[in-house]
Amino acid sequence: EKDLYIMGIETSCDETAVAIIKNGNEIVANVVASQIESHKRFGGVVPEIASRHHVEQMTIVFEEAMNQANLTFVDLDAIAVTEGPGLVGALLIGVNAAKAISFAHQIPLVAVHHIAGHIYANRLVKEMSFPLLSLVVSGGHTEIVFMKEHGHFQVIGETRDDAAGEAYDKVARTLNLPYPGGPHIDRLAQEGKPTIDLPRAWLEEGSYDFSFSGLKSSVINTVHNLTQRGETVAPENLAASFQQSVIDVLVTKTVRATKEFQVKQVLLAGGVAANRGLRKALEEAFYELPVDLVIPPLSLCTDNAAMIAAAGTVLFEKGQRAGMDLNANPGLDL
Ligand code: KG4
Ligand code: ZN
Repeated sequence: EKDLYIMGIETSCDETAVAIIKNGNEIVANVVASQIESHKRFGGVVPEIASRHHVEQMTIVFEEAMNQANLTFVDLDAIAVTEGPGLVGALLIGVNAAKAISFAHQIPLVAVHHIAGHIYANRLVKEMSFPLLSLVVSGGHTEIVFMKEHGHFQVIGETRDDAAGEAYDKVARTLNLPYPGGPHIDRLAQEGKPTIDLPRAWLEEGSYDFSFSGLKSSVINTVHNLTQRGETVAPENLAASFQQSVIDVLVTKTVRATKEFQVKQVLLAGGVAANRGLRKALEEAFYELPVDLVIPPLSLCTDNAAMIAAAGTVLFEKGQRAGMDLNANPGLDL
């Protein structure tokens, strides 16, 4: 049988990414151009700057991916592109690039939800076995997603305010750490001890929803109060305390959902999945459970296009096709 090659294109935030995967799970090209340096001095992603960078980088990243894979257009079976959610101007660059290639070379177009992409990063590591749960923790999303089969997503819990990554980035800012703050808090937390008492938002009994804004405010107030009293905070202890609070809630709710939904597999997904404390805590919690825990390598946790191609392959095989009227959808539901 002929090999299936799907290209993925991802531009939802501050990474211009193009990848090509073979037969659903083998990466043959994976190129990511990060814009982090340009956004750092603003302490966050500036949408207009992001769009401009995507325009500049798109063709370069695309050509690099084609070279890496050593393929030509006739080899590509489909182009999968992130339709949303994300920054509308940023998404539009990827969507239009994908449409242009699809139109010019008569290659089928497939629209992918960014979070579906994060979840399918796991398929590049291991075959999925259903039913499964995915804990999605990124800069914009914190969700527990139930999947009974490929391409079927049921959100059983989500954040009511800040996403986990957003809370990491805001706390990092309070500690004067550079953007994006997640990796810095992660590193500091390894050096400190969770000595500071911070809240954990469990919400109503049985709820799989999350809330991180109270925790974030609590960290900010703690720093403020100590500074006012002329005392200094040990940033590593504050980072460790904050991280412990986030991890406690994420792990406890994921374990509870795993038991209630009797799933075979649990997949970790999203940028915060790169967090060493979270990875370790999940591994420990799942050690004695009869469930297969899958944690992708760091490079597949943060935004990339291989994950979009992986989700795109499944949708392509299910017959999903997007037309030339495909538009960016910044508020797209999973
Ligand atoms: O999935 P992602 O690359 O982009 C979105 O779709 O949002 O996630 C980015 C988020 C940022 O908030 C960043 O601070 C966080 O992931 N992050 C981390 C770590 N690495 C990245 N958070 C905690 N610990 C990390 N090691
Ligand atoms: Zn993402």
